[in-house]
Amino acid sequence: MISKESIQKINEEARVEEVVGEFVTLKKRGSNLLGLCPFHNEKTPSFNVNPARNIYKCFGCGKAGGPIQFLMEYQQMTYPDALRYLAKKYNIELDETFDEGEQREQQEKQNLTESIFISNAFAQKFFIDYMNNTESGKIGLAYFKERGFLNNTIEKFQLGFSPDASDSLTKNALKEGFQLDILKKAGLTSPKENSTYDFFRNRVMFPIHNMTGKVVGFGGRIMIKDEKAPKYVNTPESEVYQKSKILYGAYFAKNEIRKKDECLMVEGYTDVIQLHQSGIENAVASSGTSLTIEQIRLIKRITPNITMLYDGDKAGVKAALRGTDLILEEGMNVRVVILPETEDPDSYVRKVGADAFQQFIQQNKKDLILFKTSLFANEAKEDPIRKAELIRDIIESIGKIPDTIQRSVYVKECSQLFAMSEQILITEVNKIRRKKASEHDKEAQRSEEIKVKSDRVPDPLNHEQFNETGSHLPVLEREIIRILIEFGSWTTYDEETEIPVIQYVLDELEGLDLETPQYKVVYDLIKRQFADGKILDDKFFIANDDPQISSTAIDILAKPYSLSENWWTKYKVIVPDKKSMFAKDIHSAVIRFKQFKNISELKKIESRIKDAKDDSELLRLMKLHKLLMEQKKEFARTVGNVIYRPTT
Ligand code: UTP
Ligand code: MN
Repeated sequence: MISKESIQKINEEARVEEVVGEFVTLKKRGSNLLGLCPFHNEKTPSFNVNPARNIYKCFGCGKAGGPIQFLMEYQQMTYPDALRYLAKKYNIELDETFDEGEQREQQEKQNLTESIFISNAFAQKFFIDYMNNTESGKIGLAYFKERGFLNNTIEKFQLGFSPDASDSLTKNALKEGFQLDILKKAGLTSPKENSTYDFFRNRVMFPIHNMTGKVVGFGGRIMIKDEKAPKYVNTPESEVYQKSKILYGAYFAKNEIRKKDECLMVEGYTDVIQLHQSGIENAVASSGTSLTIEQIRLIKRITPNITMLYDGDKAGVKAALRGTDLILEEGMNVRVVILPETEDPDSYVRKVGADAFQQFIQQNKKDLILFKTSLFANEAKEDPIRKAELIRDIIESIGKIPDTIQRSVYVKECSQLFAMSEQILITEVNKIRRKKASEHDKEAQRSEEIKVKSDRVPDPLNHEQFNETGSHLPVLEREIIRILIEFGSWTTYDEETEIPVIQYVLDELEGLDLETPQYKVVYDLIKRQFADGKILDDKFFIANDDPQISSTAIDILAKPYSLSENWWTKYKVIVPDKKSMFAKDIHSAVIRFKQFKNISELKKIESRIKDAKDDSELLRLMKLHKLLMEQKKEFARTVGNVIYRPTT
């Protein structure tokens, strides 16, 4: 448990511009900072950082939050980890207590991880030592030389050789004081009970590093062709080695990937090594399996551009393409290169050299979707059923791309390739996107809709805008919440009385409820707090423990309150002083909300009047109707008084 005081201190000290600035290049734009959004792909910056409010918000993809949320989203940290990170960064002493179980668990986990790293480092040195300094180890070195690896390449990648003996490594490690239990957990010793067998025997060894260069596991290759034994044996999944989260070579490639703004994805250990040796140092390997989402995100932190290099056999390619929609979904640019038949990157770069290799890639790299299309188009030509399947498949892929413009480019190209109407494709892609949204993320889609509409505050008097009852309610409610969060503690001038804005709003809305869930939560909280005599400022909401409340607050506040400025300058109304103008805005937001409620209530009553079963019910409804009509007129008058004008 991290104490409330510590969390508060971190919230006070952590500067969003400094935390974000470590990962995103920001430029000053007025009182804000602007950069390219790290959460989606964009060419023109729409990622806003507001130091005064200590929040960021992307106006492209809608991602928003404070320093903690940024770390959780961008670095995939857990909440406590983000707090620990910030405490360290800002030299804040962290008051963290563990109950006994937690403490033991935490410590054990850390100790285990650390011990595995140390055992792996020992094993890695042992394999190198054995290869370089023993008579029987020489064949390992000879094998690497035979494959064309130079001495400094062998050193750089820390390649070694495991003895052809039952327990050579294990025995040595035990002698050095390593515990058998840890060696088993590291995957260096066979996990069987009472066994001290080495896991890797008589194989050339490729250590696998994590991003910081620590050895997390090994791949061991057999030196001869053997039908009965697997070509490679890899460290079993362990505390530190999770195949799905590791990219072979990433530690050596990350700087070059950043520089070239492109990551080459190959299949094998030897492909990576051979390419690096040739000076092509932005290559990593997925180690034979299809890419996982974690691996893709590792790359995404460095570049949005992935180029997949596939060996030149068609069957393999089709299988490999299956996983690639995942990459599209992450909004990355995926390109594909098929190497000439029978070649893999290792053999091909050795054959033609680095320059020709690079040239081949440049000339042959195809956009994933267009590649997929052309790959299957031929076989589908004569077969209408196959063609329909193919089109469906491509549309699925296009539907996964988050960027609208990019989607429409693909739609255009595919409509040409298939000689199909663009409109049909668009309709289909949209169908898929809607389905996807309703499956995965109903909430998010709703807030996206709200965002779009909120650019235009609806005018309840404008019937055209006002026709679909209900659809504008979230916008009006959003305005109410914004006023309460942003100006709740301010004072309003109501003729001669001076009362807090929050009181004014709550009084006015007495008896009315908010309906949009995310706003209702905030509204109810404010009401409860106010009943306790508390008036809260925006910081309370932004740093709220309840993520729904903080994200709603951040989302609302990230957009500057400029309504009045726009209005008044647009209609060139001369305003005597800012305060009265501000009061009028609040007043009109409240009235608009009440007016909306009034009109939808009227509509409800009118339909019930139609269905009324007896005279007494009818009479009651008519009375209600009359009351509401009077209210309606009253609202219209008041709204007129505050010179309400629509923004568009
Ligand atoms: P490849 O069979 O293409 O091997 O498998 P390679 O890397 O080209 O190796 P060489 O050139 O024949 O020595 C690609 C990758 O798939 C994984 C390894 O990570 C390998 O690098 N793999 C392959 C295994 O894990 N186990 C296997 O039995 C085979
Ligand atoms: Mn190979």
